[in-house]
Amino acid sequence: MKKRIAIFASGSGSNAQKIMEYFKYSSLAEVALVLSNNPDAYVLQRADNFEIPTHVFDRQAFYETDEIIDILKRLEIDLVVLAGFLWLVPQNLLKAFPNKIINIHPALLPKYGGKGMYGDRVHKAVLEAGDEEHGITIHFVNENFDEGEVIYQAKFKIESEDSLEIIKFKGQQLEHQHFPKIIENLLKKYN
Ligand code: GAR
Repeated sequence: MKKRIAIFASGSGSNAQKIMEYFKYSSLAEVALVLSNNPDAYVLQRADNFEIPTHVFDRQAFYETDEIIDILKRLEIDLVVLAGFLWLVPQNLLKAFPNKIINIHPALLPKYGGKGMYGDRVHKAVLEAGDEEHGITIHFVNENFDEGEVIYQAKFKIESEDSLEIIKFKGQQLEHQHFPKIIENLLKKYN
């Protein structure tokens, strides 16, 4: 049976798009569900385009009930992928999917992680610090923001003339290039 992936995303979902494209014709795995805390998130449209079911939830359902766990279990989800999802994952969900929840972060963790470190704020901080390199991290999720065990990192050099838009773009390219493959490699290890 194919492995089943659930993607959580709060916004545009360009990473979700790449993952849905990558697994569309895969014999190993499929994206079974896309979830969002944001009813207006473009990722929901992207999922519709792939005819992948979606589920929108609110803060109360996420933090005070087992609704999300029940859905993920009912759909026999093997791996939960956070792709631009900005809420901290609660204990009950972590316990229900031990080592089965991964996240992508647009920086070389442990640098530039933690609450409030997302999107342009990350890249701005990198430029302000005068770093010579930047990159992305894919990691297991734990009870803190951006802190679980690192699975994979990819880097690029920052050129002196690089703007925020440029380093953001370079990071996104790396995310799109690597995230689906890392997911595939992880799933290959599951029985
Ligand atoms: C991605 O760059 C991802 O690394 C980042 O959100 C973006 C979502 O883009 N995640 C975080 O900052 C998590 N702390 P997308 O919606 O186009 O995939």
